[in-house]
Amino acid sequence: MKFEEKYKKDALKLGQVKLSDRQGAISWRSPSNIALIKYWGKRQNQLPQNPSLSFTLDKSFSETSLEYRYRGNKELGVDFKFEKQTNPAFESRIKTFLKTASEFLPFINYYDFKIESSNSFPHSSGIASSASSMSALALCLVSMELKLFGTPKDEKSFFQKASFLSRLGSGSASRSVFNGFVVWGKHKNIQGSSDELAIRLNQQFSPKFNSLKDAILITSTGKKKVSSSAGHQLMENHPFAAIRFRQAKDNLQNLLEALKTGDEQMFIRIVENEALSLHAMMMASAEGFTLLNENTWKIIYKIRQYRKEHKVFITFTLDAGPNVHLLYQAKQEKQIFQFIQKELMQFCEKGHWIDDKAGRGPIKLI
Ligand code: DP6
Repeated sequence: MKFEEKYKKDALKLGQVKLSDRQGAISWRSPSNIALIKYWGKRQNQLPQNPSLSFTLDKSFSETSLEYRYRGNKELGVDFKFEKQTNPAFESRIKTFLKTASEFLPFINYYDFKIESSNSFPHSSGIASSASSMSALALCLVSMELKLFGTPKDEKSFFQKASFLSRLGSGSASRSVFNGFVVWGKHKNIQGSSDELAIRLNQQFSPKFNSLKDAILITSTGKKKVSSSAGHQLMENHPFAAIRFRQAKDNLQNLLEALKTGDEQMFIRIVENEALSLHAMMMASAEGFTLLNENTWKIIYKIRQYRKEHKVFITFTLDAGPNVHLLYQAKQEKQIFQFIQKELMQFCEKGHWIDDKAGRGPIKLI
């Protein structure tokens, strides 16, 4: 618990607020991310059972603003609005998060907060917003520490702490604070990797994977039958748990190899294996559920058929829902757009899909 210990020690200096810092406002835009190696299963304190790898998106993001006003007594005051409306379920998640974060940032206890959050993607698009919204809020809190106390001292420590705090809000959020390929979770062959926070992979990868695009094909906007947190819990006594965690580690190792060597076939094999294994875990769990629908399967079939016929690099992944993330290279955009329009849009709810791509990471707005 290297980072936890350090941040707890640092917290001893983060309680006494100066009178000049009575109020202020901060705002961050933070993107969602799509995992190629999936995090599914956790231990206490939001620690992952296996390492995961994702890339951060561009157009799918949350914007969160945090206004703070000094109150002085030790009770948390939060006024939360999501897309200008109250949202009790989200508010309660935010309050729990702030309480957890206050262990590392005790000044939180001395302020009233007005928090406003909104997403670039439609609320009911079925895209998980916890990664983008929790990372945006965590970034605001670390910016607040920087304003009030002048720490963390450098950019690297700033984003490390933001990733650590994001993880406490939602595991996948830890990966959203970086751009490029990001790993969260300890892997023996990845230097600096940690269960406590995510790291950006800085090595040179094949240019083939430099400008990945992600067409998010929305097959359903309905509420999920089983939430991600319930899904993670079902991994606890899952008959295949140990095998799955081993598989994810091996897949990560091989995916890194594919990224380095530019092996597209290996990339495709691993990415699809991860997506389908994630959903296989759900089906084989005690609840025996699936989040996939008929159109998810039709799209997957079409993608595989198209790849075979056109010998083009396209593949898919899935997150915890029925929407398909179609991955391809930017230079094929024209061809793939036509494919989507002609053959895939018919399976999307109201023809809805999002033209996204690998992005540049979070941006400070105020
Ligand atoms: C399938 O990060 O949403 O998208 O930590 O409980 O908030 P919590 O779960 P969450 O789980 C994401 C699961 C996934 C795979 C992934 O993003 O790695």
